[in-house]
Amino acid sequence: MGVSRDEAWRLFCEWTESDSLRRHVLGVEAAMRAYAREGGEDEELWAATGILHDLDYERYPDPDTGHPRLAVAELERRDYPPELVDAVAGHAEYLGVPRTTPLARTLFAVDELSGFVAACARVRPEGIHGLTPKSVKKKLKQASFAAAVDREQVHRGAEELGVDFDTHVAKVIAAMEERATELDLKGDGSAWAGGGRHRARGRAAAMNGRERQSAVYTGGVSGRRPRVPVAPERLADAARRAMSEQAYAYVATGAGAERTMAANRDAFDRWRIVPRMLRDASERRLETELFGRTLPAPVLLAPIGVLELAHPGADLAAGRAAAAEGIPMIFSSQASRPMEEVAAAMGEAPRWFQLYWSTSNDLLESFVARAERCGCEAIVVTLDTTLLGWRPRDLDLAYLPFLRGKGIAQYTSDPVFRGMLDRPGDDGGSERSPQINLAALRTLIALTRAYPDRFLRALRSGRARAAVERFVAIYSRPSLTWEDLPFLRERTRLPIVLKGILHPDDARRALDHGMDGIVVSNHGGRQVDGAIATLDALPEILEAVDGRAPVLLDSGIRGGADAFKALALGASAVLLGRPYVYGLAVAGEAGVREVIQNVVGELDLTLGLAGGSATAELEPGALTRV
Ligand SMILES: Cc1cc2nc3c(=O)[nH]c(=O)nc-3n(C[C@H](O)[C@H](O)[C@H](O)COP(=O)(O)O)c2cc1C
Repeated sequence: MGVSRDEAWRLFCEWTESDSLRRHVLGVEAAMRAYAREGGEDEELWAATGILHDLDYERYPDPDTGHPRLAVAELERRDYPPELVDAVAGHAEYLGVPRTTPLARTLFAVDELSGFVAACARVRPEGIHGLTPKSVKKKLKQASFAAAVDREQVHRGAEELGVDFDTHVAKVIAAMEERATELDLKGDGSAWAGGGRHRARGRAAAMNGRERQSAVYTGGVSGRRPRVPVAPERLADAARRAMSEQAYAYVATGAGAERTMAANRDAFDRWRIVPRMLRDASERRLETELFGRTLPAPVLLAPIGVLELAHPGADLAAGRAAAAEGIPMIFSSQASRPMEEVAAAMGEAPRWFQLYWSTSNDLLESFVARAERCGCEAIVVTLDTTLLGWRPRDLDLAYLPFLRGKGIAQYTSDPVFRGMLDRPGDDGGSERSPQINLAALRTLIALTRAYPDRFLRALRSGRARAAVERFVAIYSRPSLTWEDLPFLRERTRLPIVLKGILHPDDARRALDHGMDGIVVSNHGGRQVDGAIATLDALPEILEAVDGRAPVLLDSGIRGGADAFKALALGASAVLLGRPYVYGLAVAGEAGVREVIQNVVGELDLTLGLAGGSATAELEPGALTRV
């Protein structure tokens, strides 16, 4: 039968969720194609072989029992040509299958090498551009660099193929460079120290509370204080000083009389930890599995819009910090930077996408498709903001950032949204011009700067203002109901997580609708004043879900002890919200990193001091209600 590359890719994607593994096989495909073209071979067959060689790696990575045995069986079952199947078997040395064809020898020669070339490219600001065989060879001699890559195999592969090593490396670089964007090797100034695919996890995070403590105290001996205050109230205070009055009000305050904001905190205070003694606290495990990915700690960065209010680095700074600590970042629909930019800055680190359900189905589909292309590993649909809550502090200041062009980068960078600007709208875009005075002019200039076209061109064309008006008209769909969920379910294979669930019946219904997870959230008390605190809502929701899906929680997490309580009650993980925005305001990327380290460090120490050894094993018995 003729082999189709696209069919091979579909099959591979069915088996493989990992973005880094997908990129790895695309890199191998690029190199295989280059060799096929040069040798006049069947390019489709060679490309498919490159893609399928790691078909089972994600599901069955164990070399003793799994990879690539299951791939071989599956490919045989599907009647793939024996030549392809033998090449797949032959690339795993430990199976001892001889490489008798050029196809098999080429696969073996480019597999490890392409992974190594990618690792070299990722630590260079300019990415793969300008990478030379000489610098690749130099890195091959550094045993600690991408240590998972088998150097001996890289050299033997070239020998078996009978090619000059330098020419071989140059060919693989050139083939991968042609597809630099797809392989995420364009470079962006943020060097990423990954390894081979077997350990493409990024830099180790300081998830150990003792290490964090000793870094701070040792710094104190040489007169250094932490960049951002550790105590939550002083952190918020420092952020207030670093931000404008409007910006701080937008981030820090809540709906109505802020009763729900207070209730969120009170709920944590009503649960107390009952520490147990003499249980060996020397080893503590914080790792958590969520949707097939192991995280270093059960903590994610909550989706927070308009981060530019805190710091010009905005989502890029937060994304880099999250990546450096190995904590997933949830990209907001209201981000200040397009998801593609942030994803590129995060390398292989995990990220999810939060969706506000627009009135435009086309835009919704485009957002989801972009998120998938950016390697997002879940879609979080926020349900509690179909209308904006009543926020007295923002109302008193008459300040809403979106009307100034802030927090709409996902929209202005979207092809579907931009297409809408070319068509006159029938969905409520205002035709009225605001009265022109100095303040209005300033606002117009500010929002024009936020539009990605050149400043003057955007100002002249009026597209920036049109973008804001169009955004206001379509960003949310107040008419949303349960009946809308299948539309999304049919359009993505990613796990879908509903955020904003507070009632157990809604949790049950979410699962009945094929949703994969829940975030118990009241949006940090920004939507319904008087709404139930999330920690109070959690136990009944957990009962309703009954272990069928992960239940995450946010709203009020200020430190590791809070996270401990939510986890002990049964949450799978927590989302960190305002504290990381405050860290960003005070010290940019470094500030966000410190906040993450502080929260996770405190969680680690609380776990040990309470007599626990793993967050995943915590039980409600660790707490008492007062
Ligand atoms: C300034 C700000 C912007 C937010 N933007 C979003 C958003 O774009 N999408 C979303 O789902 N939630 C958003 N949230 C809610 C957070 O994801 C999270 O639920 C909340 O911050 C948790 O409360 P806490 O920060 O008090 O812990 C925002 C919260 C704040 C403070």
